[in-house]
Amino acid sequence: MPENMQPLPRHVAIIMDGNGRWAKQHKFEIAMGHRRGVETLREIVRCSSDLGLEVLTLYAFSTENWKRSQAEVAALMGLVLDFFHSDIDELNERRVKIRILGDTDALPGPQREAVRGAQEITAGNTGLQLNIALNYGSRDEIVKAARDLASLVKEGRLEPEQIDQSLFASKLYTAGQPDVDLLIRTSGELRLSNFLLYQNAYAEMMFPEALWPDFSVEQFRAALASFGKRDRRFGGRNA
Ligand code: FPP
Repeated sequence: MPENMQPLPRHVAIIMDGNGRWAKQHKFEIAMGHRRGVETLREIVRCSSDLGLEVLTLYAFSTENWKRSQAEVAALMGLVLDFFHSDIDELNERRVKIRILGDTDALPGPQREAVRGAQEITAGNTGLQLNIALNYGSRDEIVKAARDLASLVKEGRLEPEQIDQSLFASKLYTAGQPDVDLLIRTSGELRLSNFLLYQNAYAEMMFPEALWPDFSVEQFRAALASFGKRDRRFGGRNA
């Protein structure tokens, strides 16, 4: 690994934004933008796995994305299904471990089955932890964690005083994983969009202008190198 990438972030999270604008720019159907987006996704996963990154989280579908047209939702769901069918062997060979963040119960049957299978097949892998946020909303995730803890208190299995940050984090979809170190949102938009609100507390953020289908491995590596130069203080002061 080139020296200028040290220290590597342990956890990189990406909001893959700009597929729609990319399709519009090229006078393609929106679905084509998402299809090209999957190609970028594949390259970024390969690069992360090659670099030995610990955790990569990709925002694929939010709880709000159901509001898009039926055709666009169907296109996205079709891509999710294709991806897990076509890429699972390569991911498994790379020892990638897949975790889905989000409410998978509300996914259509075939997608639910595909993500369940992908998580099961890769469960014992020790390479890149690949989180795919699917039907994910961070406020929902936080409320669910609060509800789980409240149930334990109600059942008499937990005292309210025992609830601390690490117990709370253990009830999130990212349980057991490090906080996000680097958040990247492509396409120049400067929003978090209900993504990993708890886990991003001390994340460094980068907002490259490139639309997601145009975002390259070189730009990704440049972002990682730039992260290595940032002065992270976590609220304290560095000498
Ligand atoms: C944002 O672009 C992107 C999405 C809502 C979907 C991202 C999904 C993929 C790249 C592929 C599906 C995932 C898997 C796991 C195969 P946008 O359409 O909101 O862009 P716009 O703001 O330019 O319209």
